[in-house]
Amino acid sequence: MGFSALTLSFLLLAFVPHQLHASNHGLFGTKYVTTNVDGICTSSVIVHGYKCQELEVTTKDGYILSLQRIPEGRGEVSGTWTKKQPVIIQHGVLVDGMTWLLNPPEQDLPLILADNGFDVWIANTRGTRYSRRHISLDPSNPAFWNWSWDELVAYDLPAVFDYVFKETGQKINYVGHSLGTLIALASFSEGKLVNQVKSAALLSPIAYLSHMNTALGVVAAKTFVGEFTTLFGLAEFNPRGIPVNAFLHSLCAYPGIDCYDLLTALTAVRDGFLSKFNYVTPTYNYMHYGELFPPIYNLSNIPHDIPIFISYGGKDALSDVHDVVNLLDSLKFHDVDKLSVQFIKDYAHADYIMGINARDIVYNVVLAFFNRPFNI
Ligand SMILES: *[C@@H]1O[C@H](CO)[C@@H](O)[C@H](O)[C@H]1NC(C)=O
Ligand SMILES: *[C@@H]1O[C@H](CO)[C@@H](O)[C@H](O)[C@H]1NC(C)=O
Repeated sequence: MGFSALTLSFLLLAFVPHQLHASNHGLFGTKYVTTNVDGICTSSVIVHGYKCQELEVTTKDGYILSLQRIPEGRGEVSGTWTKKQPVIIQHGVLVDGMTWLLNPPEQDLPLILADNGFDVWIANTRGTRYSRRHISLDPSNPAFWNWSWDELVAYDLPAVFDYVFKETGQKINYVGHSLGTLIALASFSEGKLVNQVKSAALLSPIAYLSHMNTALGVVAAKTFVGEFTTLFGLAEFNPRGIPVNAFLHSLCAYPGIDCYDLLTALTAVRDGFLSKFNYVTPTYNYMHYGELFPPIYNLSNIPHDIPIFISYGGKDALSDVHDVVNLLDSLKFHDVDKLSVQFIKDYAHADYIMGINARDIVYNVVLAFFNRPFNI
């Protein structure tokens, strides 16, 4: 079988395997294609008394992404026209936009932002529950799953930013969690989105992953069990009551998942660097990139004047403190007044989206950050 807690981390990090690991596509491909679910607006926003629009954005490579817009706060009288600032909220790995709406409404970040005068846009990356469509490919076709998170940088994030920028005519605030921080940092480092972004709040940032192995194991698995539960639709599954090994066992027994194969997928991240997808063999890398190793995203190239807020936790098994220190080191030439950093000793990865005190400890700080009068 060959699975372990570490294996799970590979799965999480590698996100969706590229064609060399195509045997894994069944993880996403089979079960959910037929799942018939209400949209996020209906199930999790409108029920709480907010307006919400379901929208679609098509990427340049043909993926149809769902996007929810919450244009105003609860009970707000439409027509009291003030120009609101847009905020894009980008979820983490293997979850979707719903992940921001799992707590009671007064604790959910999108609703808090809407109540505080922001025009909120919830993104859902390709392959997630609500973004499982393509102009020509069916999700049952392995080609539908033939991408890695590089494509989120190259296609998904730009598509959503372009859409919101066009609709609102304004620069955009961004909130990313986990993978949502990684793809934003990678984009900024390549000079993408930088003309459209007003500021970026990065919660539980993931950029360098060289220390993950040590901190990972059981903790990471536990952290993510809740998120997997959402994804897998196992409502009756109680993550807290089930030992991690049993969970992994059931995960690895899932049709189409080859846990042994997942081991090789970690190579998406080279030690100490944030690099593009590694095709494992130099030959494939060369075919794809014209170089034997995948190129890196050089985070020192992030424009120094983008207002960035980083919040990281001392108990976060995925966003390891040492790796965040590496990230901060690459930002050492950032304009001092444009970079704020928050460290929360007791916070773990999922606390940023599900912590019952996240509103007080994190979201209020994010609001204050967005409301700072940046002169950009
Ligand atoms: C995946 O895309 C690559 C090109 O990037 C292509 O060579 C390969 O055949 C594709 N694999 C599948 C299963 O579609
Ligand atoms: C990243 O960019 C900085 C400045 O542009 C440069 O000094 C550094 O060598 C680069 N790092 C790598 C690993 O290429």
